[in-house]
Order: sequence, then C-alpha cells, then structure tokens
Amino acid sequence: MTTSAHASTRLNGSGLTLAYEQRVISQDLAVAIPDNSFTVIVGPNACGKSTLLRALSRTLKPSQGQVLLDGQVIGSYPAKEVARRLGLLPQTSIAPDGIGVADLVARGRYPHQGFLRQWSSRDEEVVAEAMEATGVAALAERSVDELSGGQRQRVWLAMVLAQQTPLLLLDEPTTYLDIAHQMDMLDLCAQLHSERGHTLVAVLHDLNHACRYATHLIVMKDGAVVAEGDPASVVTAELVEYVFGLPVRVIDDPETHTPMIVPVDRRRAGR
Ligand SMILES: Nc1ncnc2c1ncn2[C@@H]1O[C@H](COP(=O)(O)OP(=O)(O)OP(=O)(O)O)[C@@H](O)[C@H]1O
Ligand SMILES: [Mg+2]
Repeated sequence: MTTSAHASTRLNGSGLTLAYEQRVISQDLAVAIPDNSFTVIVGPNACGKSTLLRALSRTLKPSQGQVLLDGQVIGSYPAKEVARRLGLLPQTSIAPDGIGVADLVARGRYPHQGFLRQWSSRDEEVVAEAMEATGVAALAERSVDELSGGQRQRVWLAMVLAQQTPLLLLDEPTTYLDIAHQMDMLDLCAQLHSERGHTLVAVLHDLNHACRYATHLIVMKDGAVVAEGDPASVVTAELVEYVFGLPVRVIDDPETHTPMIVPVDRRRAGR
C-alpha cells in the first residue's frame, strides 16, 4: 500500500511509535483502515493490538508519528468531537458502581448532547434500538454489576452503538460470548458495515471468524504489521505458524469458502 493510499482513508496512522513510558511496543508503524471496511486485527497476546486501537482512538498519544482522523491529527480534536465520529469498545471496561443497564447505554449519547442540545425522544429511541440490536432490552432495569460476563459485554456494545458513530473500534467484542452470541455479534457488525456503511475495526482471537468476516485483515506480531489484505490472499499455514508458532492446516471453510485454520494435532504428530 502506498503512502498516499494511507493518507486518503478516514482513519490512519504513520511513523507511529507507541509506548508506555519507557516500554516501546511499536516502532515506525503505519496503518490505514480502509473506508467502509470491516477490518479485523489478529495476532498473539501482547503483540500490541489493544495498544494500536488505543492510539487509533486517541486514548494513547503516540510518542512519535501521528494518527489522522478525517485528515486531521486526532489529538487536535476536542474529545467530544472524536466521540461523535469514532466509538471504542475497550477490551475491559469498568461500569460506575450500581449503574443500571439503560443508564449505561444512555451514556453513549453524551457526545451528542450539549448546552443547547438536551436529552430528547430521539436519544431515547436510539438507546432502545441499541439495546434491541444487542439483545439486552430485557435487562434494561437491571444493575450492570449483577450481569454475567457475556451480558455485560453486550451492554457495553449497546453503549457504543448508541453513540452512532461512522467508525467503530471493538477490542475483542466476542471474548465473553457463547457461540450463538458470538455469531450474533459478528453478524450485527457485518450488518452495520454492509447496510449502514460503517467502518469497523475489531480485534478477534478466533482466526476462523476473522477469515469469515474481515474484508481487510491486519496480522500483527511483536508490535508490527506483518501481513494485511483480503483474508483469502493473506492467510497461509506458513504465516500462521510464523506469527503464532503453531503448526496448522488451512482448509476451505465448507460454509463460507474462506480460509479455515485447523491446528495440527501435536499429540498425534508426536507419537
Ligand atoms: N498500561 C500499560 N502499561 C505498561 N505496559 C502495558 C500497558 N498496557 C499494555 N502494556 C504492554 O504492552 C504490550 C502490548 O499490550 P497490548 O495490550 O497492546 O497487547 P494485545 O495484543 O492487545 O494482547 P491481548 O491479546 O492479550 O489482548 C504488552 O507487553 C503489555 O504488557
Ligand atoms: Mg488486547
């Protein structure tokens, strides 16, 4: 990908050094999120996926380089302006003590409120729609503290959806979910992408889900992007072994005909 292609997307970063004080995670990192894509980031634990998402969402200031949102350095926008354009579902979030589900989801509307713009019936509708879409409407009156991990994850997603941003960054949105809710979540993301034209970036650990849903796959290792593009052209057994240190076979997903990764049975291979 050329530099000009990088610069022409709504969300991109170049020359990025990402660090926590002295601990450098990424150096000279360049990344461009293709507009209207469903971009999926994969890579081993601790390789810097969440760190990259933090930089792309203005949560972490790069020590070098810059992230551009709609052509401007993301750090130069007021926080509320970023929150109107870009929603982030962090890997872990802590709800305020004792807050109810509907109240938490309603917080997604804050970026749209202001001195002259108070809570409206439209806000109410958006919150109800977000809870409906994530299957948490029945939990509206419950306290977030008392929900299961998966229920809580869906409530946070509802909050981000209520923000109604054209760009959505989701850090492991499926981690706490059972298989049916994982598919619901990914289908919902795919729908936001294909029907509403949203640009999505999700970190996923399940490579088969990544291959099924990503229109653009970014593969990371040790803080660097080692491969990116259409999953069908990017994912090979060699790449997966190089990145994860795991021997695998790549076969055809019988359902979607996208690459399907099957780990080699090391116990049998060792016999
Ligand atoms: N707040 C922090 N302060 C210091 N170091 C951090 C901080 N957050 C993350 N790190 C370190 O940065 C590196 C990258 O972490 P990051 O959370 O980006 O990984 P990740 O790819 O998202 O991993 P996972 O798949 O486990 O979520 C790790 O070595 C981690 O220990
Ligand atoms: Mg992470």
